[in-house]
Amino acid sequence: MNKILKKEQLSDQVYRMQIATPLIANECKPGQFIILQVDDDFGERIPLTIADANPDAGSITIIFQSVGRTTHLLAEMNVGDSIPDLLGPLGQPTHIEKFGHVVCVGGGIGVAPLHPIAKAMKAAGNKVTIIMGARNKSLLIMEDEMREIADELIVMSDDGSYGRQGLVTVPLKELCEQSPKPDMAVIIGPPIMMKFGAETTRPYAVPTVVSLNTIMIDGTGMCGGCRVTVGDETKFVCVDGPEFDGHLVDFDNMIKRLGAYKDIEKKDHDEHHCKLDAAAKS
Ligand code: FAD
Ligand code: FES
Ligand code: MG
Repeated sequence: MNKILKKEQLSDQVYRMQIATPLIANECKPGQFIILQVDDDFGERIPLTIADANPDAGSITIIFQSVGRTTHLLAEMNVGDSIPDLLGPLGQPTHIEKFGHVVCVGGGIGVAPLHPIAKAMKAAGNKVTIIMGARNKSLLIMEDEMREIADELIVMSDDGSYGRQGLVTVPLKELCEQSPKPDMAVIIGPPIMMKFGAETTRPYAVPTVVSLNTIMIDGTGMCGGCRVTVGDETKFVCVDGPEFDGHLVDFDNMIKRLGAYKDIEKKDHDEHHCKLDAAAKS
């Protein structure tokens, strides 16, 4: 069950894994995610987007950045290993239809969850402009895959080491100023990027969808860990989302809640690293 069929390293800290899980591969749609647990007994559960699915092969693909203890442990697993627990597909699928011109904006690892959405938007007959950005060239992933889909691809790097220098909001604003303006924007990336992306499209009234990456535990709407404020309503990202109207999300509250366990996460990660170092030396 949940056997790793293929593993590739896409950049310094980003990995792509193909996992055998036929039921999820058959059921899942763009925008949905899984929750997995790496160690059997006391491991935490983490959500990862289904980046691709192949129902014929009975497999799904995940793309993840090794940022802390659990993603680090996952990155240490190899082809032939099995992931002890994997639950999905979870969340609401992306609303796909022919909107006209859709701008898809991905920042950092956000390019991975954006890929299946951009692909589905293109297949539905939309003109798709993709803006992808990262801090520097070494952190840019999936450029070739995105180029295959895009009618126009704009690559941005904060330091100018590749593509245009600057933030993804710069070309997004330029597109909004054009006539006709885009019919829709889909923005996925770090919360701060989604916040400023939504602020960029707001004055132009371009409908904007964001995919929220709140902390999740059960993924079934019971624990409340993933709650966010959208307009004047409280929503659970795991069952009501992960996608919401970016113009209505209270990003400041979400960003504050995301940092709630930073100290514990760092301690947990550092202790795990120490154990690994000790094992390597013995
Ligand atoms: P930690 O050091 O424990 O945490 C690092 C940061 O990750 C935290 O500060 C917090 O912001 C976030 N985080 C920690 N625990 C959780 C948790 N249980 N649930 C959610 N976020 C958490 N990352 C990818 O690399 N690829 C993806 O495709 C992807 N898809 C996601 C889809 C959804 C719906 C959500 C909510 C998150 C997604 N993430 C994705 C983020 C990923 O879940 C976190 O990077 C991961 O949980 C970090 O765990 P860690 O133990 O390695 O790091
Ligand atoms: Fe528990 Fe959403 S993860 S309610
Ligand atoms: Mg963790």
